[in-house]
Amino acid sequence: MIDLPRHNANFCAEHLLQLCRRQVDKAIHDHDMFAPDDRLLVAVSGGKDSLALWDILVEAGYRADGLYVGLGIGDYSDASGDHVRAFATERGLHLVEVDLREQYGYDIPTASRATRRVPCSACGMSKRHLFDKAAIDGGYDAVVTGHNLDDEAAVLLGNVLRWDVDHLARQAPVLPARAGFPRKAKPLVRLTERETAAWCLIRGIDYLVEECPIAAGNRHLHHKSVLNAIEEESPSSKSAFYLEFVDKMAPLLAGRSAADAGELTTCERCGAPTTSEVCAFCRLVATSAAHDPVPVELVLGGRGRR
Ligand code: AMP
Ligand code: FES
Ligand code: ZN
Repeated sequence: MIDLPRHNANFCAEHLLQLCRRQVDKAIHDHDMFAPDDRLLVAVSGGKDSLALWDILVEAGYRADGLYVGLGIGDYSDASGDHVRAFATERGLHLVEVDLREQYGYDIPTASRATRRVPCSACGMSKRHLFDKAAIDGGYDAVVTGHNLDDEAAVLLGNVLRWDVDHLARQAPVLPARAGFPRKAKPLVRLTERETAAWCLIRGIDYLVEECPIAAGNRHLHHKSVLNAIEEESPSSKSAFYLEFVDKMAPLLAGRSAADAGELTTCERCGAPTTSEVCAFCRLVATSAAHDPVPVELVLGGRGRR
């Protein structure tokens, strides 16, 4: 039995699975994320959310391949790659792999030191670029990620605290494809991380429990715990905060982000869409690959500043 106060109910294993399937199905249909015969590329990190998502989509009959990006974050990345590969092999699923060190000559700890930026910023930018590239190169109809309700509510809180209209306008559960960018969807936005963990437990999915060591103590995690404290006092306020935003506010903000308005050209090095001659990713690669490799331990001191 799992107790879910936001649904005001206790769930046995079979009903929990049913709840997860229904919520994912509702997210896909309400937001017109993709069609039944679309080819999907699921970005998988080895954690509970993305492995649960891949499992749910395959079980529902979608044509879904996996994409794993090796970020070079010490033992953490080694273990996440192992979990993803084991999941794919056990189920006979196709996994696309990209390794930052092997293919681009850098890793996240080194990029963070070389650019003097917080590690999560170099990491997020690398992942976004490589997800887009893998989807376009592979001819997929959409990239799907395992962002869940807790993630999206925490990002929303961060955006609201700064009234960051640009990011608020792009915080939708699905972003349509546009010149050079694939469609991007987040089918888990109606499920909490407790629910995706329960899915994995019941389905026997061996996910990596450990979180990224670099992210520990960052602002995003702080926002998550603030929302959990509010949720504790008044169950279902977290889902109301995010889902009512999507319902009522997101339509008012549509088309208001700078990215929607900006003129895009093509990066002269990699061909990706960009607003400058060389895209931000190629500039990150040039700076980071020229730097001596930095072990992950050296960037852990940068925690808590994001
Ligand atoms: P995060 O930004 O770490 O919270 O991850 C959000 C989503 O991005 C995950 O649910 C995955 O879908 C995807 N993701 C994160 N890390 C990786 C990775 N190393 N390789 C592929 N996908 C990833
Ligand atoms: Fe990107 Fe930790 S996963 S910095
Ligand atoms: Zn480029």
